[in-house]
Amino acid sequence: MPLFYQHNINGTTKLGIWHITEDEAFFLRRVPLKRDVSHAQKRLQHLAGRFLLTELFPDFPLEEILIADTRKPYLEDEKYHFSISHFGHYAAAIVSSTNRVGVDVEKTSPTIEKIRNKFLSEQESAIAFEGVEKSGHRLRQLTLLWSAKETIFKWYSLGNVNFKQHICWVKPYFIRSEGFGELTFEFRKQETVPLAIYYKLFDDLILTFVFT
Ligand SMILES: CC(C)(COP(=O)(O)OP(=O)(O)OC[C@H]1O[C@@H](n2cnc3c(N)ncnc32)[C@H](O)[C@@H]1OP(=O)(O)O)[C@@H](O)C(=O)NCCC(=O)NCCS
Repeated sequence: MPLFYQHNINGTTKLGIWHITEDEAFFLRRVPLKRDVSHAQKRLQHLAGRFLLTELFPDFPLEEILIADTRKPYLEDEKYHFSISHFGHYAAAIVSSTNRVGVDVEKTSPTIEKIRNKFLSEQESAIAFEGVEKSGHRLRQLTLLWSAKETIFKWYSLGNVNFKQHICWVKPYFIRSEGFGELTFEFRKQETVPLAIYYKLFDDLILTFVFT
């Protein structure tokens, strides 16, 4: 079942995860490959992400996607705002005709420990590990915070973001409601923007998203 997960957030905003089990030919029947992606696995992920946009909104104009200098894909007329992420055999996308959006999908991995000091402040790290004793839980917590910051980076879309300085986890707890977790962040650059980041855990796969 390739559409692994779908959530209709509101009347104009939808989110999905595709489990990639098909080959390139399947996606190329619908998706125009507009840039050279030389690595086969990355090409498959790229195609699946775009395919998913049209699964969520069948009238999504794939051929009109442009790429900004920051590498963010966008539609000039902003008929839809959208964000894409891939990890391994999964592609995630969020699409909205009304809201600015961001999405990220990750798998828990020990390598996250090596970059922890690059994306979390000392205060954020201390809070994240309070009461977390098992190393598996610690890795999941770290990956979740990393994913949330990646989601915010994509939502912002203009690049030049320092994850420690500009993206701050401001309420040190994890809220759970209606099947989703919620984290409270602030994006602090020209102005301070409060952001609710939603997350969902599927075994070791972590999905985070934002819509404003
Ligand atoms: C852009 C970035 C977020 C992509 O993340 P990733 O884990 O490599 O890959 P993902 O699969 O999650 O996302 C890739 C998708 O993001 C989208 N994307 C790329 N650049 C983007 C940008 N500037 N803004 C929004 N979306 C972007 C694209 O849709 C891309 O998929 P596509 O090329 O198939 O269309 C990442 O490369 C990046 O630059 N992160 C910031 C790094 C940083 O500043 N770190 C500092 C703290 S250590």
